[in-house]
Amino acid sequence: MSFKVINFFMSKSFKTFLKHTAKDFHNQSVNPPVVRASTIIFKSMQHIRKTQAKAIKNPTGGHYDYGRQGTSTTHILQKILTKLEESYHVFTTPTGFGAVFLSIFSVTRPGDEILVADPVYSPTRLLTQDYLKEFNIKTSFYNPSDLKTLDKKITKKTKLIFVENPGSNSFEFQDLGKIISIAKKYKILTAIDNTWATPYYFKPIKFGFDMSIVSATKYYSGHSDVMGGSLAVNKKVFKKVRAAERITGLRLGPDDAYLITRGLRTLDVRLDRHRENAKKVAEFLSRNKKFKLLYPYKKNSHNFRMWKKYYSGASGLMGLKIKSKNIKSVRKFVNSLKLFGYGYSWGGFESLVLHQEYRETGNRKYLDLTKDEHLVRLHIGLEDPNDLIADIKQALRHLK
Ligand SMILES: Cc1ncc(COP(=O)(O)O)c(C=O)c1O
Repeated sequence: MSFKVINFFMSKSFKTFLKHTAKDFHNQSVNPPVVRASTIIFKSMQHIRKTQAKAIKNPTGGHYDYGRQGTSTTHILQKILTKLEESYHVFTTPTGFGAVFLSIFSVTRPGDEILVADPVYSPTRLLTQDYLKEFNIKTSFYNPSDLKTLDKKITKKTKLIFVENPGSNSFEFQDLGKIISIAKKYKILTAIDNTWATPYYFKPIKFGFDMSIVSATKYYSGHSDVMGGSLAVNKKVFKKVRAAERITGLRLGPDDAYLITRGLRTLDVRLDRHRENAKKVAEFLSRNKKFKLLYPYKKNSHNFRMWKKYYSGASGLMGLKIKSKNIKSVRKFVNSLKLFGYGYSWGGFESLVLHQEYRETGNRKYLDLTKDEHLVRLHIGLEDPNDLIADIKQALRHLK
């Protein structure tokens, strides 16, 4: 299908762009079709050669000769995300974790070292700390709240600084400007897992990161029924990531690409509402002395200052650090919530809760948590915030 019939409406406002882009005038459909293909069919041998020559000349132009490279459906999603990220290109992967893997695999080789934020998503920790060790790639973890020691951890072998902001479950906000300036000084590549904010609230590539990961499973798709990932890159790392993408065969399927594109139409509307709802719930939670709220809400805190410095908004994911010797009461609090479903993931339209016991936080070095403290993660969904507050209120009676 020719892309000339798909309109990539450009507008100064990203909100308008999302509503009007990718209309399909060939099929006269507001949304582009799902093109499923393993074989990409050509009229002749000359036609395939011509397409391959175009792909060499313009590697981000959507010229494919085999379905593993994508179809017009994935290309449309990539084009929209490239605009949202203000990046050179965006690769799409079957899961968010696939994008994490692709970023690291693309730029590290045996003998290299990487520096990783201590509070990364736990599978990212397992990948870097344990699995990469088997390939002679060494990982050191840095304290997200004290970057004074970051310089000291850099060696001649350090190739990559991998950031996740805020920290997984503990929500530390890092001084991203400082990380970028250290990385530039030592000529080290940088990657960030930006799933919490998405480029709607913070644009890592424009800021100076080389790679930016978003789990599309979360806010991009927004309806808790799709898995996918995106890896935005600058020009410097594009070729390396493209080679790694080809060799690993990490490609998002067209049906999932379609659903993520559909989700993106309302990304701004949903995230604006998640932010408003989360702010109301945070206001309520911040008054309670039974726990510490882990969300950029308290104006004089380090985390608030770091968030305010770099982000234009906050999403719906927050944490509570509960101090209690009575674990049963913490469980009862979580189990008594009626509007918060219990389960992994987040970023869908609905509210969710997750309880992490001390032992489940793994072997993080810099986690500010004692044995009597518990982490509870709340995803604030799109329900009426007054209902969510009433639900939390009734469940809190059980917390001792
Ligand atoms: C911050 C973060 N990054 C990456 C991932 C992985 O994404 P996926 O579940 O799409 O593989 C998750 C999943 O929960 C996450 O929370």
